[in-house]
Amino acid sequence: MSECLKDAPIGVFDSGFGGLTVVREIMRQIPNEKIVYFGDTARVPYGSKSKETVTRFSRQITHFLQTQNVKTIVVACNTASAYALDELEKEIDIPMIGVVKPGAKVAAETTRNGKVGVIATSATIGSEIYTTYIKDLKPEISVTGKACPLFVPLVEEGLLEDPVTDEIASRYLLELIDIDIDTLILGCTHYPLIRNTIGRVMGDKVTLVNPAYETARELKCLLEEKNLLQDKKPDLGENRYQFYVSDGAEKFKTFANSILKYGILSAKTINIEEY
Ligand code: DGL
Repeated sequence: MSECLKDAPIGVFDSGFGGLTVVREIMRQIPNEKIVYFGDTARVPYGSKSKETVTRFSRQITHFLQTQNVKTIVVACNTASAYALDELEKEIDIPMIGVVKPGAKVAAETTRNGKVGVIATSATIGSEIYTTYIKDLKPEISVTGKACPLFVPLVEEGLLEDPVTDEIASRYLLELIDIDIDTLILGCTHYPLIRNTIGRVMGDKVTLVNPAYETARELKCLLEEKNLLQDKKPDLGENRYQFYVSDGAEKFKTFANSILKYGILSAKTINIEEY
């Protein structure tokens, strides 16, 4: 494989800010890599939309990322991973990885009492994709899903530590506490941003699984396997990270700067409908 391909960026996308929790993990685990991120801030949330719509949006983003000559694409959105990944993988010739399979694997390995909870968007819960993957690994595990549709707008509004978020989390999570799960998958990439709130409500006997960590680990393995891992350290001052959104670039930049270690130099708005 040519050095030039190794030097190509990794494409990452989500409906909005949530995928930054995956970007954060990629930056930590494979710091030599370049990243092109797209957040579909004009069309967020995806979690209440149909499979057809989410697939169409994800296809447009994939086409955009291909124009950026990415070497691989990380679908840093559970909803798009559940609804669109299988189809898109057949359409393009670069490797793609989603967040659901890695999350399911960690949860199956983590639970001790065989009771796993999943919180995610209505779309992800409705697709039952976590249940399918977990049961493929360990059929004896019981998986209970709970859609938490208000979490994404709360995160997008920046209400990460707020009494309103506490109140909504308490209501959503009550039924999972009642059934005594010991492992809870944060099955939406926005949710790690309110991890403290979720952890407080669930109590310290429940292990929270953030699929981002395992996704970045599997991404590294995938790149190694395909001889695409960047082994060269970046040049000093090189801008390795590019951020694009479909609306509200300034708001995105401020938010991203608050959660990523590396300062974001700029976020650009593009018309994603053109792709
Ligand atoms: N962050 C996304 C996910 O992981 C999507 C949330 C949304 O847009 O509803 O599912």
